[in-house]
Amino acid sequence: MSKFQAPKGVSEYFPPNSASFEYVRDKLLKSAKLAGYELIELPVFEDTEVFTRGVGESTDVVSKEMYTFEDRGGRSITLRPEGTAGVMRAVIEHNLDRGQLPVKLFYTGPFFRAERPQAGRYRQFYQVGIEAIGYNDPTIDVEVIAVADSAFKALGLKQYKLNITSLGDAKSRDSHRTDLVKFISTLKLDEATIERAKINPLRLFDDKRDEIKSAMAKAPILLDYLSSESAEHFEEVKRLLSEINIDYVINPRMVRGLDYYTGTTFEFDHSLLGAQSGIGGGGRYDGLMSSLGGSDVSGIGFGLGVDRILMACQAENCLPASINQLDLFIVPITEKGKSLGFKLISDLRTAGIGCDMAYGDRGLKGGMKAADKSQALYALVLGDDEVVSGKCELKLMSSGEVISSNLTVSELINRLGTKK
Ligand code: HAM
Repeated sequence: MSKFQAPKGVSEYFPPNSASFEYVRDKLLKSAKLAGYELIELPVFEDTEVFTRGVGESTDVVSKEMYTFEDRGGRSITLRPEGTAGVMRAVIEHNLDRGQLPVKLFYTGPFFRAERPQAGRYRQFYQVGIEAIGYNDPTIDVEVIAVADSAFKALGLKQYKLNITSLGDAKSRDSHRTDLVKFISTLKLDEATIERAKINPLRLFDDKRDEIKSAMAKAPILLDYLSSESAEHFEEVKRLLSEINIDYVINPRMVRGLDYYTGTTFEFDHSLLGAQSGIGGGGRYDGLMSSLGGSDVSGIGFGLGVDRILMACQAENCLPASINQLDLFIVPITEKGKSLGFKLISDLRTAGIGCDMAYGDRGLKGGMKAADKSQALYALVLGDDEVVSGKCELKLMSSGEVISSNLTVSELINRLGTKK
């Protein structure tokens, strides 16, 4: 065993699996870009208050899971547990909401939560997220959901389900809260749970303990308290989802793990992932900007868990057989072959053709082994004959069949170039 190991519970990607990770992440990003979202690249650490204020103190994320430390200047810093609060900090700081609305942003990178590690739950994990800031419009809610759904479809995923609900506007939540608090006061609860419920009584819907789950089955649900504006908004979201053929189930007891949500909220789960089945989630957050000192602008977004989506693709067996495949692998068998090969890969790469060669003077056998390992489409053996004649032979690696013989270098470039 090596002396050092990665910190407990982090996800790491290295070849050959890192290609699948990159493939999945890029498909998720592509869907966001196709819908006009633009990159925002932010620090992985922020002032702790961005998260305590933004995400909310009643959440597990803030109260139990943050990596918080003092930096050398005595400031309290936290590794980002999620992306939305940091994006809002940046939008406010750089006045992005003063221009054309909605501001449509995407991001990707590592996020950090000190959770108990298990399959699909990591302390450093990866998300692709989008945020659409500026309007409280049901069409944008559905656009955001559709960006995730199209990405899943583009990956070939089938066994996932979209859960949606509405947390309503302030008026809806106030009238629900009054009845919910009354209901909760009739339950026998421990001090810590009472404290949590005081900050956000909705949290009790998310409690994993059986006795609380069964008690909460009779609790009043927010969907029955929607104001007429919120109910209309939610109706329109449902209508638009059906119009673009996105299936959903309404899950009125769904509670997101972050406190900033209002209005439309949603989660995607995958049926083959066991306990950590949430592959992405999000929703609208009306008060978030103003709670971080910005203007009172509405927004909606999602975070998709790249690690879990990769696991879902593996479970459904929908990853392509070869990803980032090299077109050509050169096996030099003499000194002169090696220098021709080296020049050739430089020309081929300039022409945009992916290629590599066997280094280390390994001869034909060792070189072919390396070619096999590279999983390149074609192999090319270069010895003194090829150097003298200026011609070579292209072999299809999967069968060993000679595809073209007597090719000149420029013919080779053309031949491989047209494969693109
Ligand atoms: P979230 O539901 O906390 O939302 O996280 C989004 C996704 O990140 C989850 O559905 C899951 O796939 C993945 N995820 C979360 N924690 C872990 C973990 N410990 N290990 C592996 N994957 C994990 C947010 O983060 C919000 N910022 C989403 C959002 C954006 N809402 C509005 N805009």
